[in-house]
Amino acid sequence: MNSGKIGIFDSGVGGLTVVRAVNNLLPHESVVYFGDTARLPYGSKSPETVIRFAIEDAEFLLGKGLKLLVVACNTASSVSLPALREFADVPVIGVIEPGAKAAAGITESGIVGVIGTLGTISSGAYQKALKSFESVKRVIAQPAPLLVPLVEEGMLEHNITDLILKEYTAPLVNEGIDTLVLGCTHYPLLKDALSRLLGEGIRLIDSAESTADEVASILDTEDIISDNIQGENSFYVSDIPLKFQEIAQRFLGKTIPLVTQIEVGDLH
Ligand code: DGL
Repeated sequence: MNSGKIGIFDSGVGGLTVVRAVNNLLPHESVVYFGDTARLPYGSKSPETVIRFAIEDAEFLLGKGLKLLVVACNTASSVSLPALREFADVPVIGVIEPGAKAAAGITESGIVGVIGTLGTISSGAYQKALKSFESVKRVIAQPAPLLVPLVEEGMLEHNITDLILKEYTAPLVNEGIDTLVLGCTHYPLLKDALSRLLGEGIRLIDSAESTADEVASILDTEDIISDNIQGENSFYVSDIPLKFQEIAQRFLGKTIPLVTQIEVGDLH
């Protein structure tokens, strides 16, 4: 039993999809979330910058009394896990391994597609993780940079979004994928549109849900499950941008009751 918190960070509010999945699966656990909204997006930045930001985000959360750290941002997960694991004194998990594992477990043809930010796809992290499973024969990876702004704008069901989704997924469909990994915090919100466009023959992997499963499994093996009756969430961000509540609610599924803004310079 352990009353420590689960720390979750992302470049912005997209990682709230992971908070939501963790809350649903593990309601006794307390979560402390940090969204680096002042420095978003991470997806188009260099690996060196993303690693530096990720270390600062993690340092801030580690100061809140964690028992586990989750890197909810795919871009940060794809480049910063080795650096984070070097200094964190708690287990650190990203979203890539859990997503790859879920895809490997579900694919029948062995041809798996992955979409993500330019940073995530260029890092090759999903490709490497997927190929480490015997069931995966081929990986087709596609950067999909226009999807983050469309989701933030709430254009989840829109002609323009459909057109862009078709453009991004056409090469993957042509290669015969039967499984598509949604390799970005924002893409789970496009699940309905993607299912409609791709049909039942292509299974979608939501890394937020797979990550919550991984969190549950680590808490169990490390014997650090919470003894709280009900967990509590606390939220920190580095900026409260315009339309913050509206956008955050889209990811969390409910309003954030209280959010604390902290200066980027005070992160470490
Ligand atoms: N959170 C990022 C990811 O999952 C998407 C937004 C960004 O580019 O910062 O890759």
